[in-house]
Amino acid sequence: MKERTRILIIDDEEPARMAMSKLLSTNGNVVQGAATGEEALDLLAREHFNIVITDLLLPDTSGITILVQIKSTSPQTEVILITGHATAETAVQAMKEGAFDYIVKPLNIDELRMIIAKAVEKQKLLSENVYLKKQLQERFEFDNIIGGSPAMQKVFNRMKRIITTDSTVLIFGESGTGKELVAKAIHFNGTRKDKPFIAVHCGAIPENLLESELFGYVRGAFTGAMRDKIGKFEAAHTGTIFLDEIVTMPMHLQTKLLRVLQEQELERLGSTRTIKLDVRIISASNLNLEQEVRNGNFREDLYYRLNVIPVNLPPLRERVEDILPLSRHFLSKNCREMQRPLMTISQEAVEALETYHWPGNVRELENIIERTVALTEGNHIALDDLPPHIRDEALTRVSERGVDMVKTMNDIERRMILDALSLTKGVKARAAALLRLNRTTLVEKMRRLGLDL
Ligand SMILES: Nc1ncnc2c1ncn2[C@@H]1O[C@H](COP(=O)(O)OP(=O)(O)OP(=O)(O)O)[C@@H](O)[C@H]1O
Ligand SMILES: [Mg+2]
Repeated sequence: MKERTRILIIDDEEPARMAMSKLLSTNGNVVQGAATGEEALDLLAREHFNIVITDLLLPDTSGITILVQIKSTSPQTEVILITGHATAETAVQAMKEGAFDYIVKPLNIDELRMIIAKAVEKQKLLSENVYLKKQLQERFEFDNIIGGSPAMQKVFNRMKRIITTDSTVLIFGESGTGKELVAKAIHFNGTRKDKPFIAVHCGAIPENLLESELFGYVRGAFTGAMRDKIGKFEAAHTGTIFLDEIVTMPMHLQTKLLRVLQEQELERLGSTRTIKLDVRIISASNLNLEQEVRNGNFREDLYYRLNVIPVNLPPLRERVEDILPLSRHFLSKNCREMQRPLMTISQEAVEALETYHWPGNVRELENIIERTVALTEGNHIALDDLPPHIRDEALTRVSERGVDMVKTMNDIERRMILDALSLTKGVKARAAALLRLNRTTLVEKMRRLGLDL
């Protein structure tokens, strides 16, 4: 449900106030007006507003005074100032006091609407962040990472030793092995847990934006840089930055990143002011970085700086013991989310899951379980409820547990012959042709499989 945006307009000229109020009362916005500072502060003490639009010059006080008052009592409320040409300089000062933006008369309503939309967006992001942070802390207790296998126990031991330090960590692992989950667990169980955790998916951000995303910029640094913007590094100050898919970072940024790591300071794009940083670095890669160094795609000195403590996440097929506990974990999670009783899973289905080679690792298993829970009607998951490619692989692969090869081969032959016969409505010569067999070979096989009745 869309929340209503509550707007307060402070302007002593009644016609201007009324006109603005009318133009902004769209989209379910609730707009109120005040003619003086006193009236406004009175309203603000009684009601919450998302956005306050105030004239810089008011009969009894100034827009700046109102701004300072609002920021001290309700910092989330965004204030937009309206100013004449003569006072534009003051409005710029007001930005330093925490105004969201200012707009110069004559008023352009589209511009004002755009600024309001941005302010609303900012508030939405902030409230989501607070919410996400709470959620993350709940979710990323160590014990939410499933891993009884010796390989994962080794990972846990290493994590326990590094959570209380500020050491730089490099996590290796195939796609979907849980790199981000581990990075979050290191942060949210460590001394910085109440500080920001900022993830940057280097591969997902266009190369030309990555630099300003990471390091921020100042107004005028490039075309379109309308205001100062802090980068991810500054946002992570006192906390942790997670640099995912670090290999995708272009060379010139690798050089810049190395400098930031060495000096623990940076300058925003377009600025010469040096900003001191205290940021813990966790990076991740699904490619062998040493190989990338040899291939000339990754700076060797940066590699050593990032790889202070390596954490290797083994692929799921190398920790078969974890497949059942992980499946149970995702089953109970999905059943809970879909508000249905906890489902059970048959031994055969478990064996199929344990035999499959999981190219997409834990993420793939998570998706398969979600899909299977959604598509299965009863409260029990049988082999047939699993996706066909997993069933088929289970039939044809050999695991430690061993497999009855003759029976499996017979099952497969029987199924293929029945399929062919049903396609050809029982005409054996055509079924044989479909199976690239002589008719006599087909008849012989059917007899052996007991299909020649
Ligand atoms: N050991 C685990 N226990 C519980 N859930 C896990 C475990 N490992 C991974 N997951 C879950 O699997 C999904 C994929 O994990 P994550 O995103 O951390 O992997 P990744 O290695 O970062 O993948 P990619 O390389 O594709 O970015 C997530 O939903 C995560 O919660
Ligand atoms: Mg990831």
